[in-house]
Amino acid sequence: MCSSLTIMWKESKLPVLGVVACLLIGVLLCIALLGSKDSPFLSWGNQFPNRWGDNDAREVDEVNEERDALKNLLGRLVTGEERNQLQSGGFTCHFDQHFETCLSANPVRISNGGLTVHVLSDGSKFERSIRPYARRDDERMMKPVTPVQILHGDAANLPPCDFVHSTPAVIFSTAVTGNAFHEFSEIIIPLFLTCRHFRSQLKFVTTDRNASWIQKYSGILNRLSDYEALNLDHGSVHCFRGAVVGLRYHDNLALNPSDVPAGYIMHEFRQFLRESYGVKIKNVHEIEKLQKPVLILISRNHTRKFLNEDALVEQAQELGFQVVRAGYDTVSNLELLAKMCGSCNILVGVHGAGLSNEIFLPDGAVVLQVVPLGLDWASTYYFAVPAIAMDLHYLEYKTETKESSLFEVYGPDDPVIADPASIYAAKGYEAVRALYVDGQNLKINLDRFKYTLEEAMRLVRRSLS
Ligand SMILES: *[C@@H]1O[C@H](CO)[C@@H](O)[C@H](O)[C@H]1NC(C)=O
Ligand SMILES: *[C@@H]1O[C@H](CO)[C@@H](O)[C@H](O)[C@H]1NC(C)=O
Repeated sequence: MCSSLTIMWKESKLPVLGVVACLLIGVLLCIALLGSKDSPFLSWGNQFPNRWGDNDAREVDEVNEERDALKNLLGRLVTGEERNQLQSGGFTCHFDQHFETCLSANPVRISNGGLTVHVLSDGSKFERSIRPYARRDDERMMKPVTPVQILHGDAANLPPCDFVHSTPAVIFSTAVTGNAFHEFSEIIIPLFLTCRHFRSQLKFVTTDRNASWIQKYSGILNRLSDYEALNLDHGSVHCFRGAVVGLRYHDNLALNPSDVPAGYIMHEFRQFLRESYGVKIKNVHEIEKLQKPVLILISRNHTRKFLNEDALVEQAQELGFQVVRAGYDTVSNLELLAKMCGSCNILVGVHGAGLSNEIFLPDGAVVLQVVPLGLDWASTYYFAVPAIAMDLHYLEYKTETKESSLFEVYGPDDPVIADPASIYAAKGYEAVRALYVDGQNLKINLDRFKYTLEEAMRLVRRSLS
């Protein structure tokens, strides 16, 4: 009881007078409650902290109004029967090929460091488990994601609140991190889709917490929420006005305006990113024209790296580009990267996570993807299709078998070289991954690559004229 009042003060930044008043009321309330058993219903009432500390029991109307408002916000995240369930019972879940999510417009109590969510039910007792990461079709990637238990029970079985929050909670896992493509596809864009319309009035609760991930994306998280992302300790119970467990997902680096929540397009997300990082340029036309066009080269240093990167850089310079190599250090500094890519004309890289930085390019810029042996499908669906949805020019340099380091190992007639599709059919994704994703580097044929770079230069020049 008293501890929840303490939290309310912290949150509301009351003027000194208010604090004194609140203190008095707190003391009075504690005295009033002394001896009376802590009724679970009273505790539920406490979940609605009143910002001004003038009275503990807020008007029922106001509470209902807030719940309806929350139902409307959450209602954008579901359709049909699920939306009806949310409207009538205040709770619903959605299971999809790629993600699972549960929404509660009713107060929830979160314990066990975010891994247990208690929801008040009308009598029936049941539980379910949600893995709050949007890649449920990929068991390998889902392995480190700890499931969140959602327990529906009656008021008597709910743990009392230690902390009371005035917003809903949005729970998601940061277990799968370190790869920008997946970070954007499966966390950042889903966060935007799920949370944008809450106008920052929500608190993130991260599970499988990775503090450096939160630091890396703080520019974006701080724009989606007015509050720090919470790391709940295991011992205490946090009460929220409602909750989202697991995020909405559309597709690889995609926002689909006809999908739920309707209306968001890639263009809006890219604008949101520019605002998050203070990038002023929206379109390549706005780039300073006096300087040479800037080409950012994603410089990989282990798998799928350019074996003749220096020569490749020289060639691009000779063709008139100002080349900037983005290595491991740059790629981990998102703000720097957003600013660098935000004013560059062309992004060049071998198929891989670094190309997700296309998301920061200005409209009309060029993406040049170097497609390694055996990775045509992923190249198309991970980066080519999204690039086009971002209003970028997309070019592709499809390597010949001889340019792959696998060629020397296997020779021209081995199915690994001659027919990668047969490897997939016979041995499955793990074998493909070991060979083509993790097992090859590329020695680019510069005579052939020159044509693609020249085409890129034509596109760049056209956008500058
Ligand atoms: C935490 O996130 C950072 C940033 O994405 C990543 O580089 C790092 O590998 C992650 N750490 C763990 C233990 O997953
Ligand atoms: C190569 O990559 C590793 C991480 O995979 C990084 O720690 C290291 O600094 C990189 N080296 C260079 C020269 O970029």
